[in-house]
Amino acid sequence: MSNPSLLILAGDGIGPEVMAEVKKIIAWYGDKRALRFEISDDLVGGCAYDAHGTPLTDETMAKAQAADAVLLGAVGGPKYDNLDFSVKPERGLLRLRKEMDLYANLRPAQCFDALADFSSLKKDVVAGLDIMIVRELTSGVYFGEPRGIFTEGNERVGINTQRYTESEIARVARSAFELARKRGNKVCSMEKANVMESGILWREVVQKVHDEEYHDVQLSHMYADAGAMQLTRWPKQFDVIVTDNLFGDLLSDLAAMLTGSLGMLPSASLGAPMANGRPKALYEPVHGSAPDIAGQGKANPIACILSFAMALRYSFDQGAEADRLEKAVEKVLADGLRTADLMGPEGGSPVSTSAMGDAVIAALDASL
Ligand code: IPM
Ligand code: MG
Repeated sequence: MSNPSLLILAGDGIGPEVMAEVKKIIAWYGDKRALRFEISDDLVGGCAYDAHGTPLTDETMAKAQAADAVLLGAVGGPKYDNLDFSVKPERGLLRLRKEMDLYANLRPAQCFDALADFSSLKKDVVAGLDIMIVRELTSGVYFGEPRGIFTEGNERVGINTQRYTESEIARVARSAFELARKRGNKVCSMEKANVMESGILWREVVQKVHDEEYHDVQLSHMYADAGAMQLTRWPKQFDVIVTDNLFGDLLSDLAAMLTGSLGMLPSASLGAPMANGRPKALYEPVHGSAPDIAGQGKANPIACILSFAMALRYSFDQGAEADRLEKAVEKVLADGLRTADLMGPEGGSPVSTSAMGDAVIAALDASL
């Protein structure tokens, strides 16, 4: 059988730097674990716009559809701020999500012991934190119609539409319940059923899927604003949180910051199974392109490295190898290695992006 294919879209800003470290790790798996991938590189975001006048070409889109998994770095930067909305770097990412139908976005927020002091919250509130946000990623207000800026009378009006079908809600709910069964067996669903009809339907459908298919899993419902409050008050009450596209965008940034650094957090965006049984999948760090530090070797590659670990687990059925990589990351952190984003107010001497990648490789070697 041929090796599984990986399409790498490093993107803009720090994307290429952090992806270079992931490539070293992919090579390590080929050499040391005989786990080989067919790799191809392509452009997304601002760099694609520079080369082709579009943030994602049809050719790249087709490659993404055909790949066993896509790894993405980051998109965007100030250089592209004034571009027309339709060709902004983010549109490339949104097109990938939509056309690959990656409806379940898994965003773990895990607090590494070595970093519990970095959280803006008290250590006992975050130490040992391990929650999974499942964000619906292909619908809701991000994509609903009508949308646009229109003229009504003598003024303009900006319109976006929150829209969810029952089947869109049901499929992401199933993803959340399936994950919960492999973790703490608890799901909290968040919406605003107190003010939004789409929230009323969301709550009803999640409850129905639960009652009919997953009654062994503990289910609770919370208004999303109260959820934000509870996430900062006592985040350890949660196991899996399932929510819509926009609330998930906000709540996952909030949850990320509980753990101390956005530079640490990976994500997986999964769709329906392909003919080979693997889900359509795109893996990317939660952080952005950080143009202010791009090209300086300062970026933390860990979020991108952990995104590859998620690919090993969710696309390639290599849970044990994913564990190995996650443990290697834990080890370098426990050993005190820190990139600049992980420096406390007292300072210290940060290591470079590539030194962090090398340290993870050394820890992988030591794991054999
Ligand atoms: C995210 C980002 C994206 C989003 C942007 C870059 C389009 O904030 O992945 O959370 O809003 O979904
Ligand atoms: Mg976001």
